[in-house]
Amino acid sequence: MADQWDDTRVQRWLGQSEGIDRQLAPVTDALFAAADLQGGERVLDVGCGHGPTTRLAARAVGRGGSVTGLDLADAMLRAAAAVPPGPEAAPIEWINADAVDWDPVGSGVDPHHVVISRYGVMFFSDPVKAFTNIRASAPEGRLAIATWAHRHRSDMFEVPLAAALDVMARRGVAVDPPEPDEGAFSLCTAQRLTDVLTEAGWSEVDTVEHGAAMVIGGGTDIDTAARAGLDLGPTRVVTTGQPEDLRAEVIEAIADAYRSHLTADGHVALGGTFLITTASA
Ligand SMILES: C[S@@+](CC[C@H](N)C(=O)[O-])C[C@H]1O[C@@H](n2cnc3c(N)ncnc32)[C@H](O)[C@@H]1O
Repeated sequence: MADQWDDTRVQRWLGQSEGIDRQLAPVTDALFAAADLQGGERVLDVGCGHGPTTRLAARAVGRGGSVTGLDLADAMLRAAAAVPPGPEAAPIEWINADAVDWDPVGSGVDPHHVVISRYGVMFFSDPVKAFTNIRASAPEGRLAIATWAHRHRSDMFEVPLAAALDVMARRGVAVDPPEPDEGAFSLCTAQRLTDVLTEAGWSEVDTVEHGAAMVIGGGTDIDTAARAGLDLGPTRVVTTGQPEDLRAEVIEAIADAYRSHLTADGHVALGGTFLITTASA
């Protein structure tokens, strides 16, 4: 099932983007190691959001290369375009499109050498169609993408969700938590990635699992981390639209749960399991 990126969700992401970016540093490092970008290459960043990995790619390939950031949320792209990538970086073109409907050949986009994505490819309404279009934009290229492993493998999602469900159960609020392999977790196994990418025409699909401690909110005090935890994936889904007093109680419950996950410098760190998948066109 597709997971909507409506304006409310986009604005919430933008409001927390600096913390999210620090939180996802281990994912970024693994993704760029797998992508192995070379000077002068043409890179496509799919579901680029506000562009942190797009700008990194632009610096990695340098002035002789070029980079395209593709996203369906116009507000994300406006935020992305407002930040220059740096003096030695490749130029960046921002394209506002749904990857499922995008026609790179018909719209005259020059072929790319490398496709990258940090969590921008799990929300497609038709994944095979989207990855087919993406492949058409890099007909002789390679791909490196980061997706979440099955949600049950990541305490960073399970711990705040359990705290929220506990509060709601105590209050007698009935909720239906999202399935652990849907939405942001829709490409959560090597088999699923191989099936989708192969059907879309990609070959040599290889998925490597990584685990890392993710610093929630990017390194903040426990209460700020708990508010960030409220907005994490499934916890956001079950608490959206609930009364403010219930949401406040959930934040307190998340803070309590986080107390046993403090680092020496007082930040909250929980395990996240993610997949880095590479493929050839
Ligand atoms: C989890 S965010 C990741 C953003 C960015 N890659 C990052 O790491 O900060 C997912 C992004 O995918 C975009 N997205 C979702 N579905 C899409 C689609 N069908 N086509 C293009 N972009 C999409 C969303 O608008 C959002 O910006």
